[in-house]
Amino acid sequence: MQKSLSRRLFLQGTTATVSAALAAASSSSLAGTKPEINRPTPLYGPPPGVAKLNANENPYGPSPAALKAMMEASQKGAYYVYDSVMRLKTMIAERHGLTPEYVTLGSGSSAGLAAAAVTAAQTGNILGPDLFWDTTSRVVELQNIGEIKRLPKLESLAIDLDAMYSAIDESISMVQVTNPNNPTGMLIDPLAMRNFCIKASKKCTVLADEAYNELTDDSDANTVIPLIKDGHDIIVARTFSKIYGLAGMRVGYLIAQPEKIEQMEKYGLGWYGLNQAGLAAAIACYEDHQFMDYCRAKVKEAREMVAAAVKENGLTALPSVTNFMFVNLGALNAETFRAEMAKENVLIRGIYRDYTNWSRVSMGRLEDVQKYTSALPKVLHRIS
Ligand SMILES: Cc1ncc(COP(=O)(O)O)c(C=O)c1O
Repeated sequence: MQKSLSRRLFLQGTTATVSAALAAASSSSLAGTKPEINRPTPLYGPPPGVAKLNANENPYGPSPAALKAMMEASQKGAYYVYDSVMRLKTMIAERHGLTPEYVTLGSGSSAGLAAAAVTAAQTGNILGPDLFWDTTSRVVELQNIGEIKRLPKLESLAIDLDAMYSAIDESISMVQVTNPNNPTGMLIDPLAMRNFCIKASKKCTVLADEAYNELTDDSDANTVIPLIKDGHDIIVARTFSKIYGLAGMRVGYLIAQPEKIEQMEKYGLGWYGLNQAGLAAAIACYEDHQFMDYCRAKVKEAREMVAAAVKENGLTALPSVTNFMFVNLGALNAETFRAEMAKENVLIRGIYRDYTNWSRVSMGRLEDVQKYTSALPKVLHRIS
């Protein structure tokens, strides 16, 4: 009774309701991403001298073209964003051989992911692996309108697509796969992912969160967007927050069947949550391959530095294709490690769920990654 009442109230709710729930979900999952440094925090970005490696941002952004476009667009901040929304939607659609009805934009991909979760909650529960970027989907649990069912974890921390497919029963309305996954950084074999999506989408909606797709070596091979063109019930979420280096400008998008887009747009998508400067930046850098190649190369270099340091210090890390790595601390506690690294002005993530000895570090600027690799032996010595 209680559940159906709050479900009804929520589904009657407004954008503000979704945003408030999303803010609550984010604040609990952002533990360890806020600075704990004893000095005044600047209004924008980390304090000088602090290596901010806790939120998978790309500090090489915004690109020069995006910066220029933002300056111009900010001067037109008096006007609503309808035309720039249409322009970006069209660019994204054309890039994938689709029409704009297949695309919706939001304030970061978080807005889209939350809308997808709330839409799914109307007809069932969400199925996911044990560990994935669940911040937005947890909105349905916070609102008591649905549940996230999780697969048991594998020792490898990989996603078991066969088990996932077998677990789709009548209670499941959406299955969610983050690919590459956060916080593991691991990528699913493209053919296996494609086959899974085709099969699973006959039973329920498939949500593929591809936030880190453009950081992989072959972004086109690693996306399931072409399956949407083929008519399958798949939602792909993408963002300008990662490779494009625009996390603070809040632009993300969903691609799905037009009727699904229409359903999800009831929950705060469309153009309401967007701003002129963010859109201008996204439009300016969407096809900036030179900038993206540059960022990918820097991220790769950073991953090599971290991998070498991890090995030198007797630890291991999962094979990441993204701008973060998941390090196995052995017997050590990831929260203690995080707190001690913060004392060295290196900000990283703390514990996820019951993964008490796993620690995630983002690939920031090389000088910041260097701070991490230098602090690593010192901190390990202190807490061992
Ligand atoms: C896998 C994944 N999806 C989505 C997001 C949300 O990012 P945004 O709302 O900035 O697009 C993140 C943020 O870290 C993420 O890691």
